[in-house]
Amino acid sequence: MNKSKTTKSKIIELLKTNDIISGEEIGKILNISRTAVWKHIQDLKKKGYQIETLAKGYRLINNLDLLNEEELSDLPYKVYYFKEITSTMDVAKDIAEKEESAIIIAETQTKGRGRLNRIWHSPKGGIWMSLIVKPSLSLKEAFLLTYTASLATALALEKIARIRVYLKWPNDVIYRNDNEEKKLAGILLEVKAEIDKIKYAIIGIGINVNNEISSVEPQAISLKEILNREIKRKDIIKALVENFRYLIKKEPKEILNAWKEKSLTLGRKVKIIHPEGEKIGFALDISDEGALILKTEKNEILKIYSGDCIHLRSIS
Ligand code: BTN
Repeated sequence: MNKSKTTKSKIIELLKTNDIISGEEIGKILNISRTAVWKHIQDLKKKGYQIETLAKGYRLINNLDLLNEEELSDLPYKVYYFKEITSTMDVAKDIAEKEESAIIIAETQTKGRGRLNRIWHSPKGGIWMSLIVKPSLSLKEAFLLTYTASLATALALEKIARIRVYLKWPNDVIYRNDNEEKKLAGILLEVKAEIDKIKYAIIGIGINVNNEISSVEPQAISLKEILNREIKRKDIIKALVENFRYLIKKEPKEILNAWKEKSLTLGRKVKIIHPEGEKIGFALDISDEGALILKTEKNEILKIYSGDCIHLRSIS
């Protein structure tokens, strides 16, 4: 989708590329009045930008880690940004009915949810987003979306944060340090289908970036904790979206093979927790339909389509 930049994002661009720029100059470039410029500047201040008004013009004080529509205006999707909402998944459902594709981002979520109905802590500083897509896939092929999204997220984190990350079945992005595995990001897929065809899919992506990790999540880690510095969230979002759009066009086999290469699950003894019970076994492979192939201690070969996976034996 090609969408034109809003006046506000053009003003932000001008403020970023000029140390000081007058209202008159901005007005001339954008063909709007000085009063209109002034009004846009007031709105931008409300959105969190710190803009000084000096005798010679306007000056953007710092380059904050903002994630609003202006900062993400060069994404190939329409962006809906909220300071606080229940869950980006809820809002995405309404938007998916009317938009072809879009990204919903929230600074904080009051009812963030994870897989298997878990609470997803979503304080300020993380990336909490839902991507709406309408792929020509059947319901049976929907699993490809989560594999693609977790792979796209992992590759984006490696590119932007310059750290090595891994994938845990079904779709966790893991940071590994001294044999300790901690979760950096997770993916939640919600699909609406008609007969067997996907009408829309909402891919929820949660990444611990500059946020504090709650004490009730000892298995989680943030990028800030790993790097000892903050990282610009929009750089991660841009790389992630670019990766996703590139990977989703690939053959399913290629996506799965790339996922498997980054997997920490395959080749391990694992415990799968499922509402129907627990299974312990050796994680052999991912099937063409996205199932985890497990060889149990009784030598049964099982295909596991959902559940929680615990890595039992550490690898060197
Ligand atoms: C998981 O359990 O690993 C999946 C976590 C998904 C969290 C994201 S944050 C953005 C979106 N909104 C939600 O409420 N959940 C997903």
